[in-house]
Amino acid sequence: MEEKMVYYSAEEIADGSYKIYNNGVERPFAYCYLIVGKDYALLIDSIIGLGNVKKFCETLTDKKIILVNTHAHSDHIGGNFFFDCCYMHPRDMALAAQSYGYKKEQLYEMALQSAPAEYRDRIVLDDNFADWDPIKTLPVYGGDAFDLGDRIIEVVEAGGHTAGSIVLIDHKTRIAYSGDACNGSTLVEFDHSLPIIDYMESLLRLKKHQGEFDMMYGGHEIFDNTIIDEAIETVARVLAGTDDHVEADGMLGGKVCWAAKKKEVGYGREDGKRFNMSYNPGQVSVPKDWRQVIRLNDNTEKENQA
Ligand SMILES: [Fe+2]
Repeated sequence: MEEKMVYYSAEEIADGSYKIYNNGVERPFAYCYLIVGKDYALLIDSIIGLGNVKKFCETLTDKKIILVNTHAHSDHIGGNFFFDCCYMHPRDMALAAQSYGYKKEQLYEMALQSAPAEYRDRIVLDDNFADWDPIKTLPVYGGDAFDLGDRIIEVVEAGGHTAGSIVLIDHKTRIAYSGDACNGSTLVEFDHSLPIIDYMESLLRLKKHQGEFDMMYGGHEIFDNTIIDEAIETVARVLAGTDDHVEADGMLGGKVCWAAKKKEVGYGREDGKRFNMSYNPGQVSVPKDWRQVIRLNDNTEKENQA
């Protein structure tokens, strides 16, 4: 009999806290995290939608699962469509809406293309794939908290990478679930990223909470809490115009800058520090008190059609 595809693995990183990642892909798209409380379980992000992540989480807990997204990039919300409802910061809701309309057949194709040869035969177009139709999306703000019964998960606003990025702090295990807010290659280069001056405010806000957690479990990377200090120091140099200002191609096209020089070979900064970021030199500061500037572009047209 043909072997059945198991799309996910889980690793218990702390008491009742699981890191979940995709099997059967050349490299993980992202991590998501399940925190199991006395009353309910909280799923933080849902990866890209290759495999039914809700069903997988139900093998880890029999508690009701509530879903929250650290931000609305597709590699963090793709599994949302197995759920009826999610929580998200309102400033990322328009970004999430841009992903609607993606079809399960496209995800199936993506699964085939990203799988090493030995997995391909096991991938079939079944209920492990879902159309990206809108789901009920509820707002969550900084200062809100998820009370799981025996543990409180606090929300801190950490806009930068996206305007509505949040970090969730589990006070019981002293872990901050940080999405893509602050890591070794923090992308703050998008049109939907915040100006760098606002990202600095987010980092200073996180700094106030630094004593409440030891580790930062992100969507792609894991660091201890001292990376926040490196981030503040690096962003201060960007704001002062004294960073390394290394020009590069942006992920979605155009020219961007990296704040710190990278090693010629391998991963990381030339000076040995861990935090790095890309940014659009035109979006460092803002000319007035504007924060969200809505322009007519491909995305607004798409949103208007939705
Ligand atoms: Fe992201």
